[in-house]
Amino acid sequence: MVEGGHRVLFLGGLLLWLCMAAPSASELQRLQHRARPDGTLSFLVVGDWGREGNYNQSEVASQMGVIGEKLDIDFVISTGDNFYEDGLTGEDDPAFSKSFTDIYTAPSLQKPWYNVLGNHDYRGDVEAQLSPVLREKDSKWICYRSYILNAEIVDFFFVDTTPFVDDYFTNPGEHKYDWKGVEPRDEYLSKLLTDVDSALKDSPANWKIVVGHHTIKSAGHHGVTVELVEQLLPILQANNVDLYVNGHDHCLEHITSTDSETQFITSGGGSKAWRGDIRPWKPEEMKFYYDGQGFLSVNMTGDQADLVFYDVFGQVLHKWSISKQLRTAAKRSYSEF
Ligand SMILES: *[C@@H]1O[C@H](CO)[C@@H](O)[C@H](O)[C@H]1NC(C)=O
Ligand SMILES: *[C@@H]1O[C@H](CO)[C@@H](O)[C@H](O)[C@H]1NC(C)=O
Repeated sequence: MVEGGHRVLFLGGLLLWLCMAAPSASELQRLQHRARPDGTLSFLVVGDWGREGNYNQSEVASQMGVIGEKLDIDFVISTGDNFYEDGLTGEDDPAFSKSFTDIYTAPSLQKPWYNVLGNHDYRGDVEAQLSPVLREKDSKWICYRSYILNAEIVDFFFVDTTPFVDDYFTNPGEHKYDWKGVEPRDEYLSKLLTDVDSALKDSPANWKIVVGHHTIKSAGHHGVTVELVEQLLPILQANNVDLYVNGHDHCLEHITSTDSETQFITSGGGSKAWRGDIRPWKPEEMKFYYDGQGFLSVNMTGDQADLVFYDVFGQVLHKWSISKQLRTAAKRSYSEF
């Protein structure tokens, strides 16, 4: 108890210190979501979903409702590709209600949804998905390009991964991408990487979770995203990120690293799946691969996280735990000052 009190005081002091002495600190938008009074947090992760209920989207949604209630979740994380095939046409696109509001109707899912954008979202009106008008239509909708969610025991770093992928620029084929707000691209990417790196370095949270749409490690249809392996992965490793969570491949996947503590999770089973093309992967890293629909739940304390993948029937497919020593206030204070 006494220790907890010290920690609160210390964190307050640290925050103040960061605010005052931080001209170089990250300029990413920061949101706050308090952990529960007992210091726990739970949430669901789903990706690649918006198809007006088709391809089992509604079935996944209803099982998310059941598990969401069981775990009494605090929020939902969406790993992008929110609206197929080409994002939203504008703020008034009926796809917003048909693929989101009318689908995720369970009481337990009426919590904040923290979204990132996927490549399909970039094929429509990006500004529309970021618009506060959508939040007026459905208060659970929260979407920015890149941002930080501070949830006390864990900091989440949402990263806009679509602009990293060269192919969308050099070889767009028949697709049109909405790069307003991204160009000049080199500047956008280098600023984003600097911001994410400095935000990770500044984070006092025990857990660090990075969320993006594109894969870093995946044996699915798209496989690894080389641009992220080259540019983002070194930052994750240098900052001891616990989890990188993505969608893009329409499957459920858990891959560990032989060379770092970072684990890679694909939760892209929100609707269309069963692609059937699975690539070989190092067996010592590949912990789980499921080609069908489903979602992930995470419930965590300051020093333990329990993760579970479910299928379209709500059946448990794979579960595991990660334990981690608490970074105590004392230990932190010695290393910080
Ligand atoms: C819906 O899920 C069931 C059970 O996994 C599967 O057999 C079926 O093929 C899925 N439907 C589609 C369209 O993916
Ligand atoms: C997660 O929830 C399960 C089921 O309620 C519970 O048994 C477990 O202790 C929780 N894990 C953590 C880390 O809080």
